[in-house]
Amino acid sequence: MSDDTITRESFNLVSGPDYAAKGYPHAIWTELRKEDPIHWYEQTDGGPSFWAVTKSEHIQTVGRLPNLFLNGPRLVLDNTQESDAGFPATLIQMDPPKHTDYRKLASKRFTPGKLRQLHGDIELLAKEIIDSLLAEGNEGECDFVEKVSAPLPIAVIAWLLGVPREDWKLLFDWTNRTIGANDPDFIGEGMTGRETALQAMGELFAYFTGLVEDRRKNPQDDLITFFAEMEVDGKPIPEVDVLTWNLIIVIAGNETTRNATSGGMLALIEHQDQLRKIQGDVDLLKNGVEEILRWTSPIIHFCRTASEDTELGGRKIEKGQHLGLFYPSANRDEDVFEDPFEFRIDRYPNRHLAFGVGEHFCLGAHVARLEMEFAYRYLLPRIEEIELAGPVVRLQSALVGGVKSLPIRYRLNEG
Ligand code: HEM
Repeated sequence: MSDDTITRESFNLVSGPDYAAKGYPHAIWTELRKEDPIHWYEQTDGGPSFWAVTKSEHIQTVGRLPNLFLNGPRLVLDNTQESDAGFPATLIQMDPPKHTDYRKLASKRFTPGKLRQLHGDIELLAKEIIDSLLAEGNEGECDFVEKVSAPLPIAVIAWLLGVPREDWKLLFDWTNRTIGANDPDFIGEGMTGRETALQAMGELFAYFTGLVEDRRKNPQDDLITFFAEMEVDGKPIPEVDVLTWNLIIVIAGNETTRNATSGGMLALIEHQDQLRKIQGDVDLLKNGVEEILRWTSPIIHFCRTASEDTELGGRKIEKGQHLGLFYPSANRDEDVFEDPFEFRIDRYPNRHLAFGVGEHFCLGAHVARLEMEFAYRYLLPRIEEIELAGPVVRLQSALVGGVKSLPIRYRLNEG
């Protein structure tokens, strides 16, 4: 993904179109890590200026101080004047003490024991999707995103929530229009990106209002029921929070896993020695998935805002100033990883930050790992030959490093 022609003059670190055109700006991040790891990034054409935090150590410090570095006022930076004001606050935009209470409640549902019960179901959903690709014969061409990496997270999230199967495609559309709101393929006609995202969220809320009502009458063992019955201090949580719980699971769990899965396939196509290594020993997949997460780092950045004057890595941060945490940069940090620009499927240890760190560490990390592991476990051993069949098309977003289309040509063995 790196391109040495990317320079600070030609690439804006929070511009969606720049990521779509050129991929991740590793050349800039590497320079910043070396020369100015907490760099004041002045924006002159509309977007807010911010501190670009590029080293793992500093991102970890920020992530572990949720009272000092807030998620609340602004979670995503960009180079336009659009703000995220008006969007409902989900778990990820909350700060302590509310975040701590809500997170504790959700953790009950995401304990290792509870998740172990899900292995079989996630495996079946992954197998069903890979089988539909395999059913097309041993030779062919397809868009890997459309065939595998998009449907899998949709299926798993919809199934966890308890959304009826005939409506799964709605979730796909809502995520595209929320995360990809500024992308020309998803932006609503005559609308801004912000309006597109707000409209999609409105539709999602209306849809989930119906399902929540239903589950109050007919409780099931699913997340919609779990959120509908949630209480803090013996009192039901506000209705809007029941809806934002559903929203964050739909939004956070889809595009991210989709892009990790696509990015992983692309990395294996570009590093066929590593593909052969996994084929020789599928038990390497556990480490392999971690390396794919490090390598792809689907979340480009999240923003924090200082709640008071402070200091970070020798820099004075003023109250109210924003910080952009660039996870893909932390995942190439020379002080953490040996040969960070080498893709090594058996890398261990692998202290990547693809799922964030600290208070807001990804709630769905284990689910995402399972999805990726099962998809690859059924597909990779069957691959005789695989190559790109056309250009990789990327999403216009400075939040998620999205792959919209990954055309592949393949030949499979008999299995
Ligand atoms: C490869 C896939 C995924 C990646 C790379 C990813 C990445 C992240 C990151 C970086 C954060 C931290 C946000 C912050 O520090 O402000 C996060 C939070 C979160 N993720 Fe994920 N995620 C993935 C999959 C999932 C899935 C499958 C789910 C749901 C089942 C999910 C649900 C969440 C939620 C609810 C939060 C907010 C947690 C909080 O604020 O306490 N994610 N994710």
